[in-house]
Amino acid sequence: MLRIAILTVSDRAFQGQREDRSGPALAQAVAERGWKVLETGLVPDDQEAIRTALLAWCARPDIDIVLTTGGTGFGPRDVTPEATRAVLEREAPGLPEAMRAASLRITPHAMLSRAVAGIRGHTLIVNLPGSPKAAVENLAVIAEVLPHAVQLLRGDPDAERGHRHPS
Ligand code: MTE
Repeated sequence: MLRIAILTVSDRAFQGQREDRSGPALAQAVAERGWKVLETGLVPDDQEAIRTALLAWCARPDIDIVLTTGGTGFGPRDVTPEATRAVLEREAPGLPEAMRAASLRITPHAMLSRAVAGIRGHTLIVNLPGSPKAAVENLAVIAEVLPHAVQLLRGDPDAERGHRHPS
């Protein structure tokens, strides 16, 4: 059972000018996998606001993964990767590499994602794009490895069994 927090990063949704559809779409995708959404949040495209939310959730012993949605593109206000990097202790580049590689088969715009992922303490943080469709597509790419990732983060002695060795 993975315990997830979802942070929507969007000026317009934060100001009430647009409905947040990505957060709920991700929450549904998480629930469909049998995982639990412990928290959801909404912040503007502001480094300090994003960083503060990430730090608070990473300090919680019960949150395994923080998924962010939005603010990973080239827009002048897209600062989610910078705010995330500021709180990471160890980067996990394989996750965004896999998401971009898989997403390139769907759209060349995948090249415009600057998403990062990594670890702070026992918590994995993963940036996802801002549109509901893109967020869910990218989560689907990494979903199968997340249980093992969390097992490793917890220092679970059984984690070794999850390793697949070539025959
Ligand atoms: N990845 C998938 N799978 N599907 C998409 O539609 N959209 C891309 C990209 N990744 C997309 C995707 C687009 S258009 C952009 S600009 C970047 O993600 C960054 O999105 P963001 O600025 O909303 O975070």
